[in-house]
Amino acid sequence: MTIATPTTAITDIATLVTNDPSLGEGPLGLIRDAAVVIDGDRIAWVGGSSKAPATDNRVDAGGRAAIPGFVDSHSHLVFAGDRTEEFNARMSGRPYSAGGIRTTVAATRAASNNVLHANVGRYVAEARRQGTTTVEIKSGYGLTSHDEARALTIAAAHTDEVTFLGAHIVAPEFADDPAGYVDLVTGPMLDACAPHARWIDVFCEQGAFDGDQARTILTAGKERGLIPRVHANQLSYGPGVRLAVELGAASADHCTHLTDADIDALAQGETVATLLPGAEFSTRSTYPDARRLLDAGATVALSPDCNPGSSFTSSMPFCVALAVREMGMTPDEAVWAATAGGARALRRTDVGRVSPGARADLALLDAPSHVHLAYRPGVPLVSAVWHEGTLV
Ligand code: NIG
Ligand code: FE
Repeated sequence: MTIATPTTAITDIATLVTNDPSLGEGPLGLIRDAAVVIDGDRIAWVGGSSKAPATDNRVDAGGRAAIPGFVDSHSHLVFAGDRTEEFNARMSGRPYSAGGIRTTVAATRAASNNVLHANVGRYVAEARRQGTTTVEIKSGYGLTSHDEARALTIAAAHTDEVTFLGAHIVAPEFADDPAGYVDLVTGPMLDACAPHARWIDVFCEQGAFDGDQARTILTAGKERGLIPRVHANQLSYGPGVRLAVELGAASADHCTHLTDADIDALAQGETVATLLPGAEFSTRSTYPDARRLLDAGATVALSPDCNPGSSFTSSMPFCVALAVREMGMTPDEAVWAATAGGARALRRTDVGRVSPGARADLALLDAPSHVHLAYRPGVPLVSAVWHEGTLV
């Protein structure tokens, strides 16, 4: 005997972003006066509100807009403590550098599993309240085999999208022996971590890892079945973006300092350019030029990059507003990048869209259209969130 799951219709949606051009208008597949039917944890039906089929439950959206739940493809949530003093100093003129990561490494190593679990849970819940229903989580504040594997295990309790970032910076114990640290990351640390992760990431930057080291680490990860993603060209021009494309990375993240050759590589390749404007906001830096990337034909994703150093925000609506105001994106492009773009960056087809068969992840906005996410910055517009078919 099969037990039918209860179905729910959300009706009277003023504007629905489906991200499925076959269902509606333009690249966002917009449907006006729409309804969505959820069956268990999946979207079962999408169409005009007056045509919605009979269901067990009904929710009247009252003329509000609905979008796919945000897909956050880049976060560093397994950490303890914060870096308020560093932020204060930066706002008094001190520049951001990779060195501050060491402060969080010390605090994270000293924290219990319970504290780290509670922290991740708190930040995931905070993001969820702002409409995020998929989140990637990286390690990178352990930097020993034990502490990195511990971070990945904790991340895996909160998401399927777990990234091994043992190559965040050279661990303090290896300050005089960076080659020894690369050997550790590609040897015993990878052995301990590969079973717990889907992705491998490297911070390819001055003060972190150069192009050759990054290539060695990402290649070792690929040999263990991990898929690369790269922190690339954040603080300076460098080899990160081209390496990401060459190795078939799912995404090159930050993309702040790009040459024409970097742009061409992203436009020609499969690698998504993931832009993280919270980092430029919180470090008073120049924003990446999304317009240049989009006009060249690159695929762009957006993420808050939530971490205690460069960007302590979990808010995708904030990033959508920054992307529109500061990076030359239209509201439609920014909303696509925060939903379908994130799904592309995680190579997921079941999230980032509201169409039949997709996971039932939706956010309802206290506004008549998704454009208000950029038009009304700082206003908590997300008024209801469904995750895997459940109202949370
Ligand atoms: O994505 N760039 C490297 N990692 C983080 C910052 C980490 C930190 O400062 O703690 C980022 O910006
Ligand atoms: Fe990051």
